[in-house]
Amino acid sequence: MLVLLAGGAGYIGSHTAVELMAAGHDVIIVDNYSNSCPEAVERIAELAGRPVQAYEADVKDKAAMLAIFQQNKVDCVIHFAGLKAVGESVRKPLEYYRNNIDTTLTLLEAMRECGVPSIVFSSSATVYGEENPYPYIETMPHGSCSNPYGWTKSMMEQILEDAAKADPGLSVVLLRYFNPIGAHASGRIGEDPQGVPNNLMPYVAQVAVGRRDHLTIFGNDYPTPDGTCRRDHIHVVDLADGHVKAVEYAASHKGAEVFNLGTGTPYSVLEIVHAFERNSEKSVKFEFGPRREGDLAEFWANADKAAAVLGWKAERTLDDMCRDTWKWQSMNPQGYRSESE
Ligand code: NAD
Ligand code: UFG
Repeated sequence: MLVLLAGGAGYIGSHTAVELMAAGHDVIIVDNYSNSCPEAVERIAELAGRPVQAYEADVKDKAAMLAIFQQNKVDCVIHFAGLKAVGESVRKPLEYYRNNIDTTLTLLEAMRECGVPSIVFSSSATVYGEENPYPYIETMPHGSCSNPYGWTKSMMEQILEDAAKADPGLSVVLLRYFNPIGAHASGRIGEDPQGVPNNLMPYVAQVAVGRRDHLTIFGNDYPTPDGTCRRDHIHVVDLADGHVKAVEYAASHKGAEVFNLGTGTPYSVLEIVHAFERNSEKSVKFEFGPRREGDLAEFWANADKAAAVLGWKAERTLDDMCRDTWKWQSMNPQGYRSESE
């Protein structure tokens, strides 16, 4: 199949491109490089052992998207192209609503005009909101979100479900990611956040490599076994494999389906720090600070539906996630910039 990856130069998109090509599919990447760089595309091609067609374009640009769909007979779109920083979304809500909703509408319109039959969407566990009990299961209702980023995901799911209801020829697969970490085992591609990392794993890795002095753990008085928050961390390559299954499922299915992509096992912030130290043989200095606003004490996935319907299950362990993150970080201490600049 020919799969168009909107936002495919980013962290999850780049790993998905490699796994799709390893499974025998062809990919086209469309990215405006607002949170990534062309070097990532070069490395995808290097890992895949064949060239990758990439377009520098804004997915909100309908004329550009129509031209790309007219030039290529795309079978499926994966929509990764979003702004994703929770804190920034509180400060810049309009930018988040504009970019995330507009990319989705533009893709759906351009797909309809060009007869592209299926779309896989990067959603998030955040749509379960603050009220649902865990483990989260797909049949639970959307909850209320604590920030505009989360609301964009919730709204985009609604838009995609409505589009599938109205168009019997359209297949929509909504993938709710839990907490992706790790990197390709080669150390050639990985997560490369701009500025100070918001998320735990890239921060831990940057402390270990000497780019940051210490980690602040946001709260150690939660009602969890060690007092720190617990999350369902999933290896990004397992997540990428979930996309391969989702694309193949979408080809033989119509309507909208939702899948959690998680491991079903939570780890605490302290467990992550200690696992990282073990796997990198580096010490990670940390101190406890106040809770971060909007954080939930813990949540994790019920991942049974993806296993039953997609035949997908996360296989990699926490040690794999830490080892591969460290390989990427130690080989690329400044991210992609160390080679591209
Ligand atoms: P990322 O920022 O690394 O990748 C997103 C890519 O989209 C970037 O390459 C960026 O340049 C591109 N992009 C953004 N807006 C664009 C636009 N208008 N036109 C063209 N390209 C555009 O993020 P990621 O971690 O790979 O996440 C991918 C998707 O998964 C996002 O939608 C994100 O919200 C979602 N998600 C991520 C996580 C996570 O923890 N990483 C969790 C749940 C959901
Ligand atoms: N944490 C720290 N210190 C840090 C960074 C994070 O203690 O410097 C803690 C947080 O307080 C939280 C845990 O590490 O308890 C995980 O935090 P992340 O920011 O790594 O992940 P979140 O669970 O907050 O959010 C992530 C994505 C969201 C997505 C959500 C659910 O950033 O986009 O997972 O999928 F919505």
